[in-house]
Amino acid sequence: SNTGSEPAAANYDLVSDGKLIMGTNAQFPPFEFYENQTIVGVDAEIMGEIAKRLGLELEIKDMEFDSLPASIKAKEIDVIGAGYTADPDREENMDFTDSYYTANQTIIVRADSTAASADDLKGKIIGGQSGTTGLITCAVELTDEANIKAYTNGALAVEDLLNGKLDAVIIDNNPANEYKNIHNIRGEKIKLLENQFDEEHYVFGVQKGNKALADAINSTLAEMKEDGSFQTIIDKYIK
Ligand code: ARG
Repeated sequence: SNTGSEPAAANYDLVSDGKLIMGTNAQFPPFEFYENQTIVGVDAEIMGEIAKRLGLELEIKDMEFDSLPASIKAKEIDVIGAGYTADPDREENMDFTDSYYTANQTIIVRADSTAASADDLKGKIIGGQSGTTGLITCAVELTDEANIKAYTNGALAVEDLLNGKLDAVIIDNNPANEYKNIHNIRGEKIKLLENQFDEEHYVFGVQKGNKALADAINSTLAEMKEDGSFQTIIDKYIK
């Protein structure tokens, strides 16, 4: 029996013994992005700390955002950490942990745009990252499929907004803020229309049926919230 000081023997399946393999798309600051050759950000650090506390080594696999569900279904990764919104359709391919962050889809327009709310974008050309909720749950409410342009990452969509090829980009509030800061420093003015859509809850995805891993992640997350290490990571990346 467990004496309380050492972790209980792990009873969850892992792709590779001793490792926790997290799939992500590392073009999503501040949740995952490259600093030199290394993937850093909220998810990388939270999962790094969870792995450490579970006695595992974290390995991060960067891939197209669209590939994440198939990858977890094919058991190539143990967990998805990608600022990943809990969406019932996604549960066909995976199970979710508890939510660890609340986000909101944000509309980015050029600073000289007259659009003041989502309604002003009805029928317009809207871009975003392929497969993300910004497109699959928000843009579809406003415009026809033919007017929705999917990019491999949000930064490329913002480039096309600045080029005049899009009327708006829809993306999560934290990356939207990062893009706003980056471009406005360069004098390429963009502005944000915030709180136009329902709140979203970020979760980690695990392989379907791997309840033991979800439980281990959930209890470690709770521990990290309790001892302040969770908030320290959030504060490091989100100002
Ligand atoms: N929260 C949105 C979604 O789940 C966007 C996530 C994009 N994440 C990323 N790492 N590129 O669809």
